[in-house]
Amino acid sequence: MEKINSEKITVPCIIEKKKKGEKIVCLTAYDYPTAKLLDESEIDIILVGDSVGNVILGYSSTIPVSMEEMLHHTKAVARGIKNSLLIADMPYPSFHIKIEDSVKNATRFIKAGAEGVKIEGGKKRVPVIKAMLDAEIPVMGHLGLTPQSIHKFGGYKVQGKEFDDAKILVEDALILEEAGVFSIVLESIPLELAEIITKKLKIPTIGIGAGPYCDGQILVFHDLVGLSPGYLPKFVRKYLNLQELISKAIRDYSEDVKNGKFPGDSESYHLKEEIKEKLMKINLWKHTKR
Ligand code: KIV
Repeated sequence: MEKINSEKITVPCIIEKKKKGEKIVCLTAYDYPTAKLLDESEIDIILVGDSVGNVILGYSSTIPVSMEEMLHHTKAVARGIKNSLLIADMPYPSFHIKIEDSVKNATRFIKAGAEGVKIEGGKKRVPVIKAMLDAEIPVMGHLGLTPQSIHKFGGYKVQGKEFDDAKILVEDALILEEAGVFSIVLESIPLELAEIITKKLKIPTIGIGAGPYCDGQILVFHDLVGLSPGYLPKFVRKYLNLQELISKAIRDYSEDVKNGKFPGDSESYHLKEEIKEKLMKINLWKHTKR
């Protein structure tokens, strides 16, 4: 019989954490080594975000990211995880189509090793969420600044600042909870609104640019370690400047190659002295016929 791993974070564990008042720590990962690092650092939820589009694939938004690209990265991340809960982001428009096809798309992530999927949007996503839950697929919601809706929003703007918009977000959060999602990401909304939503829900909220009162926090890993190219939103805390460290390492390597300092003796292989001498005595004309 397979041994049960008591350290394994599951969907029920995440809901339990809110009841116990324990904060939920989440980060994105798109590849095997990062997933392994995060898993070994006891991160609760690892999200294969469609932010892979901006961060890794060089797209200007998450909208061009395809199912095949998401599945490729989800499989790599799954190979690096033992204990963290692995959630995969469903890309645009993989869950905006016929419900049957949306569920089929979600099952592909589960087959790839994800333990749940994240989908963006409120009330209008309820039918597809219910169909996914019927197919035994845990669903994480995502409200606020949902990057797949940037064309509708007119850019990356903080959401829910006015009463009417804030009210819709509170209602959407309650509707998603009722539909059965196990948690909701709240992105780029005022902290007071995130606090109200968090207090109204039994399921955990995971904030990104939503202040300190959410039940958990998520950041894009590359933003946290200073490896993201370009603009960083105000809500990011950069714990490291890896871009600077990596650039220095590349410049040092380049210098060493140009100056003949790399590779050194300890980075090279050796021949036995007698083999070296024999090789040096070889005359080309004697050995042209093989
Ligand atoms: O795609 C992503 O990385 C996300 C998180 C930032 C929540 O959706």
